[in-house]
Amino acid sequence: MKVTVVGAGAVGASCAEYIAMKNFAEEVVLVDIKEGFAEGKAMDLMQTASLNGFDTKIIGSTNDYSLTKGSDVAVITSGIPRKPGMTREELIGTNAGIVNSVIDNLVKYSPEVIVIVVSNPMDTMTYLVHKSTDLPKNRIIGMGGALDSARFKYRLAEALDCPISDVDGMVIAAHSDTGMIPLTRLASRNGVPVSEFLSQEQMDSVAQETRVGGATLTKLLGTSAWYAPGAAVSVLVHAIATDSGKMIPCSLLLDGEYGLQDICMGVPAIIGKNGVEKIVEIELNEDEMNLFHKNADAVREVNNELKF
Ligand code: LAC
Repeated sequence: MKVTVVGAGAVGASCAEYIAMKNFAEEVVLVDIKEGFAEGKAMDLMQTASLNGFDTKIIGSTNDYSLTKGSDVAVITSGIPRKPGMTREELIGTNAGIVNSVIDNLVKYSPEVIVIVVSNPMDTMTYLVHKSTDLPKNRIIGMGGALDSARFKYRLAEALDCPISDVDGMVIAAHSDTGMIPLTRLASRNGVPVSEFLSQEQMDSVAQETRVGGATLTKLLGTSAWYAPGAAVSVLVHAIATDSGKMIPCSLLLDGEYGLQDICMGVPAIIGKNGVEKIVEIELNEDEMNLFHKNADAVREVNNELKF
């Protein structure tokens, strides 16, 4: 498998690193507009290969998309990250233009590519990729749910005071500080609902810490996070490469699912060699469904700022 990662910043480099460490891809191409930057990151990462035991070849490119030709998967991380106090939505003005030019270049050299969108505001950027390309909808995936679910599991394990491998849970809806829905009702510790162990107050606190997970890190780091976003992308790419059929929440174009249309929102999906093999419609209760629709309205407002 050949994977392109556009943007060699912290998130892009982490994606390349985690993909290479899993040793399933033949080649990862890192692309950046900054002269020599992607080449430098690629060389540094390649010098970890003998230490970390991978054979994936990582190459860098300063905006030369011909090197990305024939990519099976492309990850778009380009654009500006948020600074402390900013919402992801505030990045739209700058990032929409960047994502638009990146996607044109990617599709030109890799018409069969499966695109994973990481740039923020992610749900809107994923929608933009749908609107500005002819790619079938199974080949456009917004990365948010995998990351938010990992943050949810981290907070659940913290509240339960248990190993993370004991917990399971999923976050759906929007990848924003107010738009995420951590499905606490369905979260479990080894199949036992977490409500057996946690009070309502504790569960509400876990959900809130999860929703602001990215903002908490941005405040601590001065810029947005990169390890968990990179790892979440690598999980998606691995699921595609191995045709695993894993169920992973992703931001996908909805066409009637969950009662919504013409919008990208985080929903559980089966991921395999074709990208999205199937959207899974789980039964939400009335409160969850109302919240899902309310959060969709907020995403639509941001989508309306896009100019085509
Ligand atoms: C975050 C960015 C990737 O949540 O949106 O860290």
